[in-house]
Amino acid sequence: MRVLVTGGAGFIGTNLTRHLLELSEVDEVRILDDLSTGFRSNLDLVREARFFEGSILDFDLLGKAVDGVDSIVHLAARPSVPRSIAEPRAAHEVNSTGTLNVLEVARAAGNIHTIVASSSSVYGANPTLPKHEDLATRPVSPYAASKLATESYTLAWQHSYGLPTLAFRFFNVYGPLQAAGHAYAAAIPTFIDAAINNRLIPLHGDGTQSRDFTYVGTVAAVITRCVIERITSPTPVNLAFGSNITLNEVIEGIGRELNQSVDVEYLPSRPGDVKHSQAANAELARLLPHLQPVSFDDGLRATVDWFRKL
Ligand SMILES: NC(=O)c1ccc[n+]([C@@H]2O[C@H](COP(=O)([O-])OP(=O)(O)OC[C@H]3O[C@@H](n4cnc5c(N)ncnc54)[C@H](O)[C@@H]3O)[C@@H](O)[C@H]2O)c1
Repeated sequence: MRVLVTGGAGFIGTNLTRHLLELSEVDEVRILDDLSTGFRSNLDLVREARFFEGSILDFDLLGKAVDGVDSIVHLAARPSVPRSIAEPRAAHEVNSTGTLNVLEVARAAGNIHTIVASSSSVYGANPTLPKHEDLATRPVSPYAASKLATESYTLAWQHSYGLPTLAFRFFNVYGPLQAAGHAYAAAIPTFIDAAINNRLIPLHGDGTQSRDFTYVGTVAAVITRCVIERITSPTPVNLAFGSNITLNEVIEGIGRELNQSVDVEYLPSRPGDVKHSQAANAELARLLPHLQPVSFDDGLRATVDWFRKL
């Protein structure tokens, strides 16, 4: 089978592409990416993939990339909450309009199976824990609103046009290839990078905020199974396993893996950040009953090892 991964030069996309390329069922992987937050160097890790350089806002290019594929995994997006607060219109254009473009080419090409990346941020200000998919969504950032549009359009295309789709709500994904050292970097790579380079770990808030961290290898394994088995769902599905790890525990774990003491610089909380995030995962378990996630300790070890080799 042939698979198109939008955003395939990014963190999750490159890990996923590597996973897909290992499978005998997969004959070809294509990547469409504008390299805005993804990296050309990531493409060196997936040389067998065919690369289309450009934007999901370029409808003609999307049409070429999709021609002849059996499945689309749509990961391309402007992925940061703070960046969306700084540049809300760009978040809307790429995440909402861009998704609509992907769905339209999937439909025009004969209803191609399409998996899209939504986000736990759609739960936003809803305080109920764990987050189960039936909860009311209450986005608190332009990014979250644009991701709600991503999954809403996807479900609407399934119901209106019979497009076979699956919208996953990713929680906090971490692992090798996640970039540190830029203004909108995620917590785990930022912390590891600081600790390895003997800098203070910049921590927004008091570190008691918790997240359902999901190892990228687990995310890649889940998506791969869903591509191969052409799994669909009429409702969005959490892609996480119900862990609730505080940022203080992450920092302790990094110190343990590096076998060194780590010092923290406490900074103000950021607007748009939620205090706790934890998934209910009954729906995911129903779709993929045998899939076991990589544990947080093992995932953190693999991530720290990867940073050490940089
Ligand atoms: N990493 C997480 O914890 C997390 C959590 C929730 C949702 N997600 C979603 O997962 C997806 C992948 O995120 P990631 O963490 O790998 O981020 P990433 O920034 O590494 O990957 C996004 C990729 O999309 C590409 N891209 C951006 N705009 C594009 C455009 N207009 N056209 C084509 N390509 C474009 C970027 O260059 C990049 O390679 C995103 O949709 C993101 O919103 C990620």
